[in-house]
Parts: sequence; C-alpha cells; structure tokens
Amino acid sequence: MRFRNAFSVSLLVAVFGFATAAPTSTNVTKLEYEYIVVGSGAGGGPLACRLAMAGHKTLLIEAGNDQNGNINTTVPGYQAVVTQDPKLRWDIFVNHYQDQERAMRDPKFSWEVAPYEYHVGPNPPSGAKPLGILYPRAGTLGGCVTHNALIWITPHASDWNTIAEITGDSSWAATNMSQYLNKAYEWLPTEPTDPTILLDDLKLVQHLAGGAAVMGIGPDPLNAVTGLAGTLLNDPNSQINPNRDSAEGFYQIPLIMKDGKRTAVLDFIADTVQKGYPLDVRQNCHVTKIDFDTSGSEPIATGIQFLDGNSLYRASPLSGGSSTNGSAAATKEVIVSGGAFNTPQLLKLSGIGPAAELNSFGIPIISDLPGVGSNMQDRYEIGVNVQHPNDFQILNGCTFDNKAHDECLTKWEDNPYILAQKGAYATNGLAAAMAVNSKYAANSDIDLFIFGGPIDFIGYFPQWGDYAVRDHNYFSWYTLKAHTRNTAGTVQLRSTDPLDTPEINFNYFDTGTTAGGADTLDLDAMIQAINMSRQALDEYNKYSILGGDSFVEVEPGVNVTSDADIGQYIKDRAWGHHASCTAKIGADSDPMAVLDSKFRVRGVQNLRVVDASVFPIIPGVFIQAPIFMISEKAADVILNG
Ligand SMILES: Cc1cc2nc3c(=O)[nH]c(=O)nc-3n(C[C@H](O)[C@H](O)[C@H](O)COP(=O)(O)OP(=O)(O)OC[C@H]3O[C@@H](n4cnc5c(N)ncnc54)[C@H](O)[C@@H]3O)c2cc1C
Ligand SMILES: *[C@@H]1O[C@H](CO)[C@@H](O)[C@H](O)[C@H]1NC(C)=O
Ligand SMILES: *[C@@H]1O[C@H](CO)[C@@H](O)[C@H](O)[C@H]1NC(C)=O
Ligand SMILES: *[C@@H]1O[C@H](CO)[C@@H](O)[C@H](O)[C@H]1NC(C)=O
Ligand SMILES: *[C@@H]1O[C@H](CO)[C@@H](O)[C@H](O)[C@H]1NC(C)=O
Ligand SMILES: *[C@@H]1O[C@H](CO)[C@@H](O)[C@H](O)[C@H]1NC(C)=O
Ligand SMILES: *[C@@H]1O[C@H](CO)[C@@H](O)[C@H](O)[C@H]1NC(C)=O
Repeated sequence: MRFRNAFSVSLLVAVFGFATAAPTSTNVTKLEYEYIVVGSGAGGGPLACRLAMAGHKTLLIEAGNDQNGNINTTVPGYQAVVTQDPKLRWDIFVNHYQDQERAMRDPKFSWEVAPYEYHVGPNPPSGAKPLGILYPRAGTLGGCVTHNALIWITPHASDWNTIAEITGDSSWAATNMSQYLNKAYEWLPTEPTDPTILLDDLKLVQHLAGGAAVMGIGPDPLNAVTGLAGTLLNDPNSQINPNRDSAEGFYQIPLIMKDGKRTAVLDFIADTVQKGYPLDVRQNCHVTKIDFDTSGSEPIATGIQFLDGNSLYRASPLSGGSSTNGSAAATKEVIVSGGAFNTPQLLKLSGIGPAAELNSFGIPIISDLPGVGSNMQDRYEIGVNVQHPNDFQILNGCTFDNKAHDECLTKWEDNPYILAQKGAYATNGLAAAMAVNSKYAANSDIDLFIFGGPIDFIGYFPQWGDYAVRDHNYFSWYTLKAHTRNTAGTVQLRSTDPLDTPEINFNYFDTGTTAGGADTLDLDAMIQAINMSRQALDEYNKYSILGGDSFVEVEPGVNVTSDADIGQYIKDRAWGHHASCTAKIGADSDPMAVLDSKFRVRGVQNLRVVDASVFPIIPGVFIQAPIFMISEKAADVILNG
C-alpha cells in the first residue's frame, strides 16, 4: 500500500498512460504479445502478473481504469458506498425470477426512469422501464476486488476434491491446491478487524455476545467484554485445525486489508509493473471479440479486437463516449477473465457457445459449446434487521461520505499504523459471524455464515450503500448460504453489440433446480438461519447487564413467524453476489463442459478462461479466495504444463 502512495504521476503515465491514448496514425505497429489476459479482476489480475513475472510479454486489458488514490476504494468502512461510485460501478440488472409479477414482490425491484436514474419498489412513474434487481459489479482495474466487502474466507477441501473427481485430474485435490493459497498470500495481506474497535461499543458487544451464545460459546455476562475478546480470536480460516471445514463456532472475519486499508489485486498489478516485468496494462479498453485462425482442423485463438475509450460498457453510468477500434495479437494464448457475466458474453460474441443461440444472432460458430452461459450459480442471502431507539456508539461521527465533517475518516487517516486507533472505518462493518452446518446441508461442511453488524443491509438496489449506513441505530444478522444447489442460472446475449449487457436469469428456488428437493433444502437452511438470527436477538436480551437499549424487528417483521411465511419472505427478497460457474470445467464426456481441467476452452486452441466462471460447483463460503487460488493454479499450469 505504501507503494501505491508513492506511485508518482510520471510513473503512472509511463505505466498506464499509453493505454488511453488513441492511435494518432492509422499505421501504428500491430500490438503483439505472448499472452493477452482480458479482465484484471480476481481471476485475470494475479494470472497476468505471474505470466509477466516469469518473463513473458503480457498484455492485461481492462475495460475500466485505475482508481489508485480514490479513497472510496481504500477505506474498508466505505465498502458499501464505493459500489455507488460512478467511476467504478457497472449497474447490471438481473432477474431472480423470469415471471415479472413474482419478481416485483421484491421491494428492491428497480425501474429505469431516465438513463442511469432509477425508481426502486412498487408504483413506478409512468413510462418507467422494468429492469430487475441490481447486481453490483466493478469495471475498474482490479475488478470487483477493488470495491468488494473485503471478506476473506478460504474454500473447503470438498470444493477442490469434487473437481478432481469430476475431471480425474488429481492436481485439483485439496492437498495439492493449498500451495496456491500460499502463493496468493505472497501478495495479499489479510487481517481481521481489531477487536478493541468493536469492544468499545457495549451495545455491539451485547449483540455479538448473543451470537456467540447461540453457538454455545457466549461469554459470561459479568465478563462479557474480555470473554468476547477471546472469542474474536477464533480464525475461520485456520490452516492447522484438521476439522476446520466443519468447525461450527463464532468467528472474527478476516479481511483483505493491511493496517486497516484495503489490499487488492490492484496492488499486485502495480507492483509487478513497477518492478519492470513485461506487463503492459491497457485500461479503458473493452475487448469485443476473440480472433481465430480457422485455416487448420481446429480454430486457434490468435488475438483480440477491442475498443479504446472511457467507460464504454453500457452498464457504466459514464458510458456513451467515443471509441477507437484496435486489435492485438497473442503469439501464445488469449485468456478470458471478464467475470461470470462478461466471459460468457465475450465467448458467445466470438462464436463459442450454444449453436442455436449463436445462429439466432447470426454469429458464425467457432466451437459449439452448449454449456457457455448456463450452470450459473450463486449463494442466497437474507437478513434479520432490528432498530434501536439509540445509535451505536461505534458509528458516532461516521457520515460515510468522505466530506470534511466525516470524523471517522479523519480518525482513520490520522492513525495510519495502529489499527486499534483507526476506528470504525478500519472494519467493513460486519464484525463477526456464526458459522453453522445447517440441518439441511449435504455434508459436514459449514453452509451458513450469519454475520452481525451495525448496518441496515437488505440487499442490493440503486443507492443501497447510502441506505445501509444512513441510520446508525440498526443491527443486522445477515446470512449467506453456501453450497447452494441451484445450477439453473443463465447468461444469454441480448444483442450482438459488445457494449450491451447480457440477459441474466438466476431462476431462484422452485424456478431453478428442484431435483431431490434441492430448492426446499436451500430454503429450509435459510429459514434455519433466520431462526438462529432471532435466537441471537433473544440472547442479546440475556446480556442486559451491558446496558444496551431495546429494539424492534423491522425485517422480516414480528408478524412473519411460520416457516411458510418466512420461506415466502426469503423467496421474495433473497439476493446474492457471488455469481459463478458460467463456463464450467468438466469431464471430457460432459457435453456441458466448457473447459478441460487445465482451463482450456474445448474445441479450440490457445484459449483459456480463468475467473469465477470456471467452477463446476460454486466453491466455499466466499468466492474471492478460491478465485485467487485458481488464478495462481492457472499460472502454474500455463507456465509449467
Ligand atoms: C458488492 C460486492 C461485494 C463483494 N464482496 C465480497 C467479499 O467480501 N468477499 C468475497 O470473497 N467476494 C466478494 N465479492 C465477490 C468477488 O469480488 C467477485 O466474485 C470476484 O471479484 C470475481 O472475480 P472475477 O475475476 O471473476 O471477475 P471481476 O472481479 O468482476 O473482474 C472482471 C474484470 O474484467 C473486466 N472486463 C469484463 N469484460 C471485459 C471486456 N470485454 N474487456 C475488458 N475488460 C473486461 C471488468 O471490468 C472487471 O474488472 C463481492 C462482489 C460484489 C459485487
Ligand atoms: C505504413 O507502414 C507501411 C509498411 O509497414 C509503410 O510502407 C508506409 O509508408 C507507412 N505509412 C505511413 C503513413 O507511415
Ligand atoms: C465515492 O463514491 C461516491 C458515491 O458513493 C461519490 O459520490 C464520490 O465522488 C466518490 N469519492 C471519490 C473520492 O471519488
Ligand atoms: C500437484 O500439482 C503440481 C502442479 O503444481 C503437479 O506437478 C503435481 O503432479 C500435482 N500433484 C498431484 C498429486 O497431482
Ligand atoms: C470497429 O469494430 C466493429 C466491430 O467491433 C466494426 O463493426 C466496425 O466496422 C469497426 N470499425 C472500423 C473503423 O474498423
Ligand atoms: C424454525 O424455528 C421454528 C420455531 O422454533 C421451528 O418450528 C422450525 O422447525 C424452524 N425451521 C427450520 C427450517 O429449521
Ligand atoms: C407482515 O406485516 C407487513 C407490514 O404490515 C405486511 O406487509 C406483511 O404482508 C405481513 N406479513 C405476513 C406474513 O403477515
């Protein structure tokens, strides 16, 4: 991070500057690289760095640009508001349900009133266009890691062993994958919130003690602060506990940060460039098509076509500017890392996808792969939110707007190295979590993370970030359901214009995978999570010695009590933010497999995919750690065969 501060303007120009300049003559030398990586996020960023560090001339192309110095991206406490920053954000709207009437039961359902102006909820103004549910994404150097919620939870062994079983490739075995986690730790520092920041606020302590109590490790009320401090030392990523994957408990949340400041892929990229490795970063550049040499028996990827220009993708509220065409050649390989929505879009635009869909758009077929853009998976998330009469002390002075009156920012800035003194902004607001193996889990792995924090989080919709932190008297127990069973999501082309967003359908619950009661099992686990959240709120009352004031449940609301009503509430309002699995790795015999176990796109040569799309089954509890690991693995596979 110090490096980023020291990053001089002249260096920035030298490193990234050429990328934005449009060619002045039509006779520019053709760009030629050994490797071209499309997309600089969790999948593409580390991989491009590793290829360059091994001496290969590598081009990393990013549609967005470098937000180095934008404080929204560095302050963990700004994790909600940063997703609203027009300089980074891509507004992607998705359908949880294709039946619009059903979709509109979600009060987060959004409408377009004017370009990039939205109405949220029922009764839109006349003429408003229904859009669906906002799915925040980042079009910026470093991808979604530059704006995400920083949560660092490593995957389960079963995630990898399943890929080894499916493909018969033992290099995917969990025992072999741990080396890639260690590779990621070479460039990614992580740390939990300093407990003293949390323990200062006794009402927060009281809530967290309630959560710990549900997990059977509630501190003695007379000694709650010290007791909770001990509990918050529990590391959910323990590399020494052999039973870690199934270890229920109450845990601190490790974050991708150092000295209370976000760490990200961006730092690794900047560092690699600064050290002089042959990595060119072309930002403000949207890749529109992969080029192939089709003269032989199998098409060979030879390079890419792109448009240079600022924020060209129409998901960006800054889109609409001018652009210039260009292309670049890859003598070795093209690697697509655009993320779970953009990777299938780019593959399809390039002729790789289901023949029927490509034909319907008149796209010449390079490889008929029916699996591209299907098998999409995500987690389900839901919360129980309560309102107190009085504010949480920890949030005093936090205006979350980076203005002069933002006292929490001043405190954060004035204490660069002592985490405990940096205050509320040195945390992402989600202080600790119950880790649970639900009654409905398929195996002994943890499948529920139930986070507690002084935030009013109800999911994503335009301006959700302002909403979540506007009031300082809310507390949420918010659940993330891992190892979900729904594989019925799709990403389909809306048009052949590469700047249009695709059509994205998640097909939630009973409109998705139902075999073996899959939808009911996921839903029941979520109901159990709401039950446990409410238990934690009951336990809060048992710690009244800490003096916290009363509360009322706002969401789902005290009238929502039967499993049927809770289930309906979840179906109407659940959300997700770990979209994945849209270009899956699979067995040679699986017609829906898009990739082989070495990330190679089937039916063509010199083309791989490395990002959230590659997983056959959504991994772990949080997704960035597994993506960093596959990025490191891909580098190893490409460099060492
Ligand atoms: C609000 C939010 C909070 C999150 N919080 C967490 C968290 O706390 N913990 C966690 O583990 N995960 C979290 N995630 C998820 C995680 O950050 C993402 O799943 C992960 O970054 C995906 O990695 P990726 O490489 O697949 O795609 P991305 O990180 O999205 O990177 C893709 C990149 O490719 C670029 N790109 C796409 N198409 C093109 C094109 N055609 N030409 C050029 N460039 C292109 C995009 O601009 C983008 O920069 C969060 C996500 C969001 C949205
Ligand atoms: C463009 O390049 C070609 C060959 O590479 C050269 O013959 C020609 O003179 C160049 N034109 C200009 C305008 O530089
Ligand atoms: C941070 O993001 C907000 C949107 O939430 C935006 O208004 C503000 O300008 C951004 N700040 C900076 C420094 O770019
Ligand atoms: C583990 O992965 C490495 C590649 O890093 C590979 O060489 C080795 O054969 C793998 N081991 C097994 C058991 O597959
Ligand atoms: C630019 O590329 C688009 C396709 O991406 C193509 O339709 C257009 O003709 C190209 N324009 C020029 C000037 O090459
Ligand atoms: C939720 O709690 C209620 C009340 O204790 C119980 O009857 C119900 O079975 C629980 N639901 C699930 C899905 O665990
Ligand atoms: C609970 O009350 C809210 C607000 O009055 C209402 O919108 C909702 O339909 C009720 N839900 C149930 C299950 O009764």
